Amino acid sequence: MTDYKNFNLIDHPLIKKNITILRDVNTDGEKFRSAVSRISVILAVDLIKNVKLKEIMVESPLEKTKGYKLANDIVVVPVLRAGLGMVNGFLQVLPDAKIGHIGLERDEETLIPKEYYFKTPGNLKEHSVIVVDPMLATGGSASAALSFLKNRGAIKPIFTCIVAAPEGIEKLKEEHPDVNIFAAALDRELNDKGYILPGLGDAGDRTFGTL
Ligand code: PRP
Ligand code: URA
Repeated sequence: MTDYKNFNLIDHPLIKKNITILRDVNTDGEKFRSAVSRISVILAVDLIKNVKLKEIMVESPLEKTKGYKLANDIVVVPVLRAGLGMVNGFLQVLPDAKIGHIGLERDEETLIPKEYYFKTPGNLKEHSVIVVDPMLATGGSASAALSFLKNRGAIKPIFTCIVAAPEGIEKLKEEHPDVNIFAAALDRELNDKGYILPGLGDAGDRTFGTL
């Protein structure tokens, strides 16, 4: 599965340090949220290396010269709830990004995600779309989110997570082979309840203190 050419594991000492904070069962909500934000900044800086630029002219105090802007507007789409924790980090790097929202919740028995909210800019075809969710477990939520966005016109959306499981990567490889995945960690496997091992537990509950 690591042979999946669209899977990008972002290797950075600060990612390793901050994921250790997230994994620690003794990390409280405040520290958990700030570690998620710091990792999100690093992920955003790294993945944005791949977006297209457009040349523009800019007038310096001395003369006109060539400059650049991003070719497309960016839409960051957190998968509720846990994806919300990644938004501020992305906005620090991409302050003029628009934010869409997709509400999905996994049924604890079947692990099938149920949609409860969906709001994005209408013209996704003209945007670079980046889905953010800290956890890629079975891949059901990510796959559903990507399908919703493609139905709204998104072309080659990017999926970004903090912890990915091999099972989720396989699912996206089959169902969304066009999608580039960026992850901060690749973990071993899922347990029989669909939790990532070693993982960090329930990201939504730890972010929002609903344990
Ligand atoms: C978590 C997580 C992902 C999903 C991953 O959300 O944030 O969206 O599970 O699991 P999957 O890959 O097997 O679909 P959850 O459904 O627990 O909702 P929450 O963020 O509101 O806690
Ligand atoms: N969702 C989470 O929040 N954690 C997991 O380990 C799997 C799905």
